[in-house]
Amino acid sequence: MELYFINISIFIILFSLIIVWIMWSALIGAGFQPTSMHLVKKMLEMAEIDSNDILYDLGSGDGRIIAQAVKSYGARAVGIEADPIRVLWSTMFLLFYGIKNKSKIKWGNFFNEDISEATIVTLFLGDKTNQKLKEKLVKELKPGTPVVSYSWKFNGWNPTKVDYSNNIYLYVIGESNLNIYN
Ligand SMILES: C[S@@+](CC[C@H](N)C(=O)[O-])C[C@H]1O[C@@H](n2cnc3c(N)ncnc32)[C@H](O)[C@@H]1O
Repeated sequence: MELYFINISIFIILFSLIIVWIMWSALIGAGFQPTSMHLVKKMLEMAEIDSNDILYDLGSGDGRIIAQAVKSYGARAVGIEADPIRVLWSTMFLLFYGIKNKSKIKWGNFFNEDISEATIVTLFLGDKTNQKLKEKLVKELKPGTPVVSYSWKFNGWNPTKVDYSNNIYLYVIGESNLNIYN
């Protein structure tokens, strides 16, 4: 009987930890759902990325945008990811592809990280998170920096380019947000 209760307790603790792990990212920004590689390419082409760029992917998931930016365009790229397991996984992925020298995955909450060196920012987050991010983007990014968001818009900002069929929006800091933060 005692062993039965120990087993049940271990099960409940493990189950709770898994639920917290799954929910944590969703609570602070967005849950994990990878962008398809086809759309990753569209996002990077829309931003006109090249080898002089430093791309930041806020909530970098499995690191696919980071890897593509480095492998296909020779850019430098930084991912910021809250989930330690995805940080570990994507770092191994970058090592496996031999592109770790041009890329980095930081473990943290992107709201607390300095993103000012970015020349391109990519996002696939959520509606509320996008709206919350606007002030940080305007404060830290240089005018002219493209911000490419898959799926979610920035309310009140005017996108410079839109790919309606794929739901991708490109905003340019200092242009798209003028009516709000000028
Ligand atoms: C929808 S996924 C997108 C993953 C990747 N960018 C892609 O397009 O394939 C969102 C990711 O953002 C991460 N995330 C959510 N809020 C975050 C935050 N505040 N700081 C860092 N990462 C966050 C989640 O853990 C998740 O991996």
